[in-house]
Amino acid sequence: MSTRGKTKFQINLRRHLRERGVKDDLVHLICEIAEASNYIINSIRTGDLGVAGTSNLYGEEQLALDVLADRIMTKRLLHSGVVGNVLSEEADDIICLSTECGGRYSVAFDPLDGSSLVDVNLAVGTIISIFEGCNILLPGRQQVAAMYILYGPRTTLVYSTGDGVHEFGMNQLMEYTLIKENLQIKPQANIYSPGGLRNLFTTEIERYVRDLEKRGCKLRYSGGFVPDINQVIVKGSGVFMYPHLQGHPNGKLRLSFELNPMAFLVEQAGGAASDGHGPILDRIPQGKDDRSPIFIGSKEEVALAEAYIAGLDQ
Ligand code: AHG
Ligand code: MN
Ligand code: MN
Repeated sequence: MSTRGKTKFQINLRRHLRERGVKDDLVHLICEIAEASNYIINSIRTGDLGVAGTSNLYGEEQLALDVLADRIMTKRLLHSGVVGNVLSEEADDIICLSTECGGRYSVAFDPLDGSSLVDVNLAVGTIISIFEGCNILLPGRQQVAAMYILYGPRTTLVYSTGDGVHEFGMNQLMEYTLIKENLQIKPQANIYSPGGLRNLFTTEIERYVRDLEKRGCKLRYSGGFVPDINQVIVKGSGVFMYPHLQGHPNGKLRLSFELNPMAFLVEQAGGAASDGHGPILDRIPQGKDDRSPIFIGSKEEVALAEAYIAGLDQ
């Protein structure tokens, strides 16, 4: 059921979820996550930009902000009362918040993606992937919801529960109100975001990028996954890639809490998300720290990447 015809600025997140017929516990969970973002915003604006003196499972030095954002989100998920297991980029293992997780949700999340950009005042975000029940290491197609919060010049929240992709803005009362529903991505890209070291691109990816430029795609790359994907979803056109690189066949980005949620949102908006051979959402996770190459956004340019990788390009 659409909210067409109502003054869209009256629709807050909870009301939008309810009017779309989302289950009560999932409404509660998504709203709790949205509430937690207020505290993460505060930590970004005022928090310590230094290192935490620890590193995560990926050997990445954790910033104090990474650890703080992780604590804020994990605590909120625990107190929500509807979450079974959680998998955070900043934790070494899947954490069981409740042994009784039937009828509950499990959440994979990146509490602060792009945290190394905060000290140069670039946009960063929180990425959330939600499954029903206890298991998190499922193919992304089984997600029941995905969302991100983008901490930029404005704070925005984008979610999907499998019924379209909807964007909200934070108002002066720190409440999320509807900006636009049913966001759509056009089949052709007008921008491209090439992640990774260019001198490590394989020949076919180098040729693919040259083709994108010949097609008139402009380079737009902030180094933050959330703003870079948000640009494709909200502008409605573009392709982001963090490809396989020489010496790094799986690229950099993590399947569970970066690629699966963004792939769910982009497919819901009419785009595509591929590992270079097939849909990201069909990949069966081998472990909590799986990485994968990614080509995501406008369908035609994602298919073109697959053609170059398969050697089918003319
Ligand atoms: P995180 O800060 O959670 O580790 O993620 C950073 C990711 C992602 O935001 C971005 O797309 C990518 O790192 C950029 O990597 P490069 O710096 O290698 O381009
Ligand atoms: Mn990340
Ligand atoms: Mn992160």
